[in-house]
Amino acid sequence: MALRVAVTGPTGEIGISTIEALEDNPDVEQIVGMARRPFDPEARGWTKTVYRQGDILDRDAVDGLVADVDVVVHLAFIIMGSREESARINLAGTRNVFEATVAAARPRRLVYTSSVAAYGYHADNPVPITEDVPTRGTPEHYYSEQKAACEEALAETTAGSSLEVYVLRPCIVAGPKAPALAEAMPWHQLPGVFRQLTRAVPLLKPPFPDPGTPLQLVHHDDVAAAIALASTTSTAAPGAYNIAGDGLLSMSDVGAALGARPIKVPHVAAVATSEVIARLPFVPSALEWLHAGRASTVMDTEKARTELGWRPKYTAEQTLQALASAVD
Ligand SMILES: NC(=O)c1ccc[n+]([C@@H]2O[C@H](COP(=O)([O-])OP(=O)(O)OC[C@H]3O[C@@H](n4cnc5c(N)ncnc54)[C@H](OP(=O)(O)O)[C@@H]3O)[C@@H](O)[C@H]2O)c1
Repeated sequence: MALRVAVTGPTGEIGISTIEALEDNPDVEQIVGMARRPFDPEARGWTKTVYRQGDILDRDAVDGLVADVDVVVHLAFIIMGSREESARINLAGTRNVFEATVAAARPRRLVYTSSVAAYGYHADNPVPITEDVPTRGTPEHYYSEQKAACEEALAETTAGSSLEVYVLRPCIVAGPKAPALAEAMPWHQLPGVFRQLTRAVPLLKPPFPDPGTPLQLVHHDDVAAAIALASTTSTAAPGAYNIAGDGLLSMSDVGAALGARPIKVPHVAAVATSEVIARLPFVPSALEWLHAGRASTVMDTEKARTELGWRPKYTAEQTLQALASAVD
């Protein structure tokens, strides 16, 4: 097929595995990776990839990136940041990528990684969530709100164009090359000596509340495999695909694996806390992530398996253990 593929955000938790999957794909001839900070493809053993410095907020840079490729994979995003800064980059930058790809003559396909967060954390979410459930987002959580807004912008921007648009909606991504979940735990900042001490004296482990909301996890290599499939498939139809590893975890599983002492708390307490936070006038953006625990967002991944031919290699449990071993 000899495809040329542009990737925004090639150095992120999903980006590095994505480049590796595209490098291994015989249908891909060349990859152009655009990020703000430099990286050396050769040092990573990448032979098909070239680095292009650029910011997705710079429309000229994005136009230059997409002009000469067949497929555009858009990953660049700010996940952990302030509501204002992330909105500036995620909404305006993502719109730039969508509009530039529609406007360019050569690209015929756009692959965008949305997220489970685009569905929002609603009590009336069906269990499990299929791709035809509307992406309503949760306004109180900046990331969820922005993911839903980006899907809306994507539909609006590409309506009436001939672009083949694939939207992947992964759950939380983890693994040795995606440590953000472990790094987000408050005790991760504590000195290593304290973490060693808690191994010897379990009662010293920091408490970790579990309101009973089930959790899905997916390995970064499995997300990358889905992105490579979406970039190259000649059989699966464009559209949205949920992406999650097999099996469900509890917050207790996650807390215990990452060095905490899980404590069960009533689900109503999590919902009440979330509602109180939603009413406060000035909430630090990091606290908004608490809304993610208030309702189930377990996704059905049957469509990715049957239509895209996606087969995750790692279960949620294996992904968690791989993460825990890497950050130990
Ligand atoms: N990680 C997860 O758990 C998860 C789950 C579901 C969906 N997703 C989605 O998957 C996508 C990729 O996530 P990730 O975890 O790989 O993110 P990440 O680790 O935070 O990496 C972000 C990447 O985007 C680049 N970037 C950020 N701002 C940019 C800008 N203004 N212009 C150009 N490049 C920029 C970064 O490089 P520079 O900083 O050098 O520019 C980096 O390469 C995102 O859309 C995210 O919402 C992630």
